[in-house]
Amino acid sequence: MFSKIIGTGGYLPEKVLSNHDLEKMVDTSHQWIVERTGIHQRHITEGQTTSELAEKAARQALEMANKTPDDIDLIIFATTTPDLVFPSSACLLQRRLGIKNGGAAFDIQAVCTGFVYALATADKFIRSGSSKCALVVGAETLSNIVDWSDRSTCILFGDGAGVVVLEATDEPGILSTHIHADGSYEDLLKVNAGISQDYQRLKEGEAFIQMKGNEVFKVAVNTLGRIVDETLAANNMQRDDIDWLVPHQANIRIINATAKKLKLPTENVVVTVDQHGNTSGASIPLALDTAVRDGRIKKGETLLLEGFGGGFTWGSALIRF
Ligand code: COA
Repeated sequence: MFSKIIGTGGYLPEKVLSNHDLEKMVDTSHQWIVERTGIHQRHITEGQTTSELAEKAARQALEMANKTPDDIDLIIFATTTPDLVFPSSACLLQRRLGIKNGGAAFDIQAVCTGFVYALATADKFIRSGSSKCALVVGAETLSNIVDWSDRSTCILFGDGAGVVVLEATDEPGILSTHIHADGSYEDLLKVNAGISQDYQRLKEGEAFIQMKGNEVFKVAVNTLGRIVDETLAANNMQRDDIDWLVPHQANIRIINATAKKLKLPTENVVVTVDQHGNTSGASIPLALDTAVRDGRIKKGETLLLEGFGGGFTWGSALIRF
């Protein structure tokens, strides 16, 4: 038994925040942001919740997969910015979609690697026979935890949702998944408040992403290089067996470094960071959906998905689409 992606969907909130808009908010410039990150704009919610964004993406993915909500017996929802402490965003999405079949629904928190973690988990549920058809979600409203007065972070992040429908099949779709973590890097990338730590700061609306960007950058590039090697070796594949790199969209320079390692021409790398910014757990499924819908990614092609994020966490998935 294997699992296969049979539908993708994506949703971005309507409001666009350009680099020129940011120039009016902090001491920065369009040119600096583009040169250092590749980002031109990002989408920002105006009150929409994370599960609301996810619902729109999920309905698109279900339509492409030719499935109804009741076909879904598992929802795994990767997010760092859930609607509520509980119920989970997965349960809220299940209700929004009107699913009443009692299938499992839970959230996964692995920050920017969240979608890869969720996909790896759903694949294991399907391979073991516990589930037949899953929604795997990455959705975020990071704008709520961005310090809009901190120029070193506020230029990077955006909101959005991406979803895939994963179904049990006889032929392999997900070829392998690889997920890792090293919890010793909290000081390089974190949100400075939560429920059982510094709750007062959260209540006062002062809980923000804090990052030592330069140091995160170096670890990300090295780690993503290693995960590419691990994934190819596990599948006995060479670099030129990969048709598409669908990376986490944090910074064009990190993406280019991974593409260089794979010796992949830029036209085989899906880039959305210029339009979306870093949407954390949503970035990989949003990039995948973009390239599936515009016809670049075709059935039968081999895709390498990879991500890196807070924790640190990192991971990859090799996929026959
Ligand atoms: N506009 C203008 N100048 C800025 C700026 C901004 N928005 N943000 C920082 N700067 C300044 C800094 O103050 C610094 O000035 P100084 O030299 O006078 O001290 C200078 O630009 C260089 O800062 P630095 O942090 O070294 O820049 P960088 O080349 O590392 O780029 C990031 C910064 C954040 C774009 C980059 O480090 C990065 O992308 N890191 C990884 C982030 C990431 O991927 N995080 C999520 C992981 S999932």
